[in-house]
Amino acid sequence: MEKITVSLIKADVGGFPGHSTVHPDLKERANKELKQAKQNGLLVDYHILNAGDDLELLMSHRKGVDSEEIHGLAWHTFEAATEVAKELKLHGAGQDLLVDAFSGNIRGMGPGIAELEFVERGSEPLVAFMMDKTEPGAFNYPIYKIFADPFNTAGLVVDPTMHDGFVFEVWDIKKKKRVFLRTPEELYSLLALIGAKSEYVIKRVFPKVTSPLPKDEPVAVISTEKLFFTAGKYVGKDDPVALVRSQSGLPALGEVIEPFAMPYLVSGWMRGSHNGPIMPVSFTYSKCTRFDGPPRVIAAGFQLSKGRLVGPADLFDDPAYDRARRKAAMIADYMRAHGPFEPHRLPIEEMEYTTLPNVMKKLAGRFEDTE
Ligand code: 13P
Ligand code: 13P
Ligand code: MG
Ligand code: MG
Repeated sequence: MEKITVSLIKADVGGFPGHSTVHPDLKERANKELKQAKQNGLLVDYHILNAGDDLELLMSHRKGVDSEEIHGLAWHTFEAATEVAKELKLHGAGQDLLVDAFSGNIRGMGPGIAELEFVERGSEPLVAFMMDKTEPGAFNYPIYKIFADPFNTAGLVVDPTMHDGFVFEVWDIKKKKRVFLRTPEELYSLLALIGAKSEYVIKRVFPKVTSPLPKDEPVAVISTEKLFFTAGKYVGKDDPVALVRSQSGLPALGEVIEPFAMPYLVSGWMRGSHNGPIMPVSFTYSKCTRFDGPPRVIAAGFQLSKGRLVGPADLFDDPAYDRARRKAAMIADYMRAHGPFEPHRLPIEEMEYTTLPNVMKKLAGRFEDTE
């Protein structure tokens, strides 16, 4: 069976205005590039979206993950959009393109990437999540809930095809190591790691052997790129994306989006330096306004049909999420009231990846011994 690959590749190539959203001309320019690639047969299908100020390229193709052609297409599309951003003098034009030239694989060059290759099932529902003003570890909580928490996912209890649980691939993004943990038997070990979301990040989720799906095909993937580690300085907050497959041996669509009814705390927001609630929003409200936030997530739902991305359905465009949004706004008020104090401001270790160390340098020479 010929496999299909879905690649979600994103970059901030200029904000409009400030870091709030993507100017329509950038999307139009990106559309010109991807339309051509579809006409040439490189892409089966594509959609262009924005999460706040991040330009999101969702593409389906037959080239597999880490394809030079697909990564090259994304890179050149971001470069073309950057030209438009420069002409419009948008804020931080080309922000996430950290190197001068494409060299075969877009990983480590600035953009965030989530790719899944699989055999398309009889019905293949897929959710593309896109976040702005936060970091890859922001997906730990919902991905854990979706694939390992029976209070979120009823299927773990009542569906025999999911009853054995899933395997989590967790990365230590600082030490560049990974570990595979099986749930439910290693649930507490998994939580011991992923609760520390700035270091341990869920990269992929796999079904277990007994599932109806092949065990070597991931069913969820999250972008784990960290801009700071590439650039060596603060350029933005690694706003992450994820792809999650659903139904028939996997969590149902409603189980996949259920964790976002709770506006949990993530790090990012203003200047990548603050904790705040993540607000699930419709595409219309995929823009970061108040204090450059609060951090937001959109969910684009699709059914795949021979690689065609049928959709998107704007999944958080629903009054059922109004209470989560109201709660997020209330938590935003409460967190903001702390001003520059922790835990609204990130702990000092995390501030190392922001512009604060440059302020600290100015004071360094003035410290005297106290003992
Ligand atoms: P982005 O990472 O979305 O560009 O945001 C940067 C920032 O500093 C917002 O205050
Ligand atoms: P600039 O005003 O220099 O962009 O810095 C603030 C910010 O938003 C960080 O990206
Ligand atoms: Mg930006
Ligand atoms: Mg952003």
